[in-house]
Amino acid sequence: MKAPDTSPTPTDTRDAGVRAFYNDLPFNYWSDTEQAAGTVRSNPLLAYPDLDDLLEHDPIREVLEIGCGAGWATNALALHYSVNVTAVDFTAAALARARDVAQALDLGDAVSFTECDLFRFSTDKRFDLVQSIGVLHHTHDCRAAFAHAASFVRPGGYLFVGLYHLYGRRPFLRLFHDILRTEGEQAAFDRYAAMHHQSSDTTHVRSWFRDQVLHPQETQHSLEEVMGWLDAEGFTLLSTSINRYDDPTDRAALIAAEQALEAVSERRNRIENDYFPGFFTVLAQRDD
Ligand SMILES: C[S@@+](CC[C@H](N)C(=O)[O-])C[C@H]1O[C@@H](n2cnc3c(N)ncnc32)[C@H](O)[C@@H]1O
Repeated sequence: MKAPDTSPTPTDTRDAGVRAFYNDLPFNYWSDTEQAAGTVRSNPLLAYPDLDDLLEHDPIREVLEIGCGAGWATNALALHYSVNVTAVDFTAAALARARDVAQALDLGDAVSFTECDLFRFSTDKRFDLVQSIGVLHHTHDCRAAFAHAASFVRPGGYLFVGLYHLYGRRPFLRLFHDILRTEGEQAAFDRYAAMHHQSSDTTHVRSWFRDQVLHPQETQHSLEEVMGWLDAEGFTLLSTSINRYDDPTDRAALIAAEQALEAVSERRNRIENDYFPGFFTVLAQRDD
């Protein structure tokens, strides 16, 4: 078996900017390792019920995570589902934390972290599950990144991807870009922290705020668009957060449901002051 090809140096200047951005402060970064390990122990993957169900009931053994960041999902996969995880990210600061947390959790050889630009990642190995949460939309070419990630799924295996949502995200971005323009960054941070009560750790909140409000490179995508990508790559959609993991076979209903999320996002973010960043997931299976 060929060893994975790795180089963390991006081929595109926009990706190089993203790498520098995350090396300043990785996403989802706690001020200390033990707090980060605590969140992994609580199994944050339960937030994705379709993925949890798959991992509980399907014989998944080998997982590839593309863009693992500070490692909460990679480490939770190994800790709670007894799988081996190959994890790739091009941000050294994030990987250092991911490795420290893995060590604190005594995960040993179950996880391996590789510093690599995802577009340059290559291996002969094919995986039962490839997952990438909140990553591909931060590259210079989300569609190409999606195809590259999908290429590592074995026939019959699974792909789990989380992306910014075209309709759900617009009101969030409009709100924060308005505040940044008229009141400045501190006011935008204060509004964000008040809406999103995920942590009392200031570093942690700031790492989320930068990622979601100040990012140098992001694109947004619709489920309709991603369903076309899945068709092209030979995958069947199994579930999506857009209809809360209900039956995904009625495409017209899914498209109507996703378009309705723009009004929901406008109401929640701007009127109810309730965090709605505009993000969705898909779980799909590669055709045999
Ligand atoms: C928003 S963070 C998400 C991290 C992790 N998936 C999570 O949910 O916490 C995006 C991650 O994608 C990584 N990333 C973005 N573009 C990449 C690329 N071209 N190659 C490798 N990693 C990349 C960044 O380094 C960063 O850690």
